[in-house]
Amino acid sequence: RKRCIRISTGSKQLDAALNGGFQTMSLNEVYGEFRCGKTQLAHTMAVIAQLPKEMGGAEGKVAYIDTEGTFRPERIMEIAERFGVDPDQACENIAYARAQNTEMQAELLDGLAASFATNEYRLLIIDSVMSLYRTDYVGRGELSERQQVLGQFLRRATQMAEEFNLVVLMAHTSPNDSTNQVMSDPGASALFAGVDGRKPAGGHILAHASTTRLLLRKGRGEERVAKIVDSPDCPEREATYIITTGGIND
Ligand code: GTP
Ligand code: MG
Repeated sequence: RKRCIRISTGSKQLDAALNGGFQTMSLNEVYGEFRCGKTQLAHTMAVIAQLPKEMGGAEGKVAYIDTEGTFRPERIMEIAERFGVDPDQACENIAYARAQNTEMQAELLDGLAASFATNEYRLLIIDSVMSLYRTDYVGRGELSERQQVLGQFLRRATQMAEEFNLVVLMAHTSPNDSTNQVMSDPGASALFAGVDGRKPAGGHILAHASTTRLLLRKGRGEERVAKIVDSPDCPEREATYIITTGGIND
């Protein structure tokens, strides 16, 4: 039987709020306005996932699906130095792929099954999970089709999280963020509301007990604030963190 592992975020406060970090066998959503640290959290966890368990890691490899071209190996190397691991080794343990459209995004996910079957992987990052669906399915006329394909993608990701004992970390910009050009996006919020299984939306019931949603926002100065939303095993609470050269920290 597979054992659930928690992967640290790099911030002790945030880890504490998450009861130790993000859990394997679950889909986790990290959302919030631009520059609040979604991509930095993804980079940080891509290194931490490789670390020994006593350091908050899962001794695993990482798959990284990048839809916005914001992955930076240099950042991985800087974060690796913070944790005292070999920077080149840290990069080698990350299977990176850039998705250009939603079809590719889904194909990349399917294609990872063979790698995941080796049981060496513990973290799958999708940054951002929504952006290509927004550009491939423009306007309200295509909303139901978009929800359908996105629903398929999320079901597959859920399945893989469970089958391969992975933390799936999905970043996306808040659909209702007024500082972003993206208009209020009822399709996205409706679908994501269904991911935690308690608020089925659009006919999709993605029942999954461990799903955690983290809403990030900017705080004072360098400070950032993470709010845990709709988690089955954590009360709704906030934690602060900062972004450093070594990644997410307290
Ligand atoms: P979008 O993808 O645009 O929605 O934003 P995001 O939430 O992914 O933001 P991201 O994780 O890219 O965070 C950007 C912030 O991280 C900026 O405020 C940068 O100043 C900060 N940042 C990035 N790299 C470094 C670094 O090497 N050192 C420090 N101290 N901060 C950094
Ligand atoms: Mg980003």
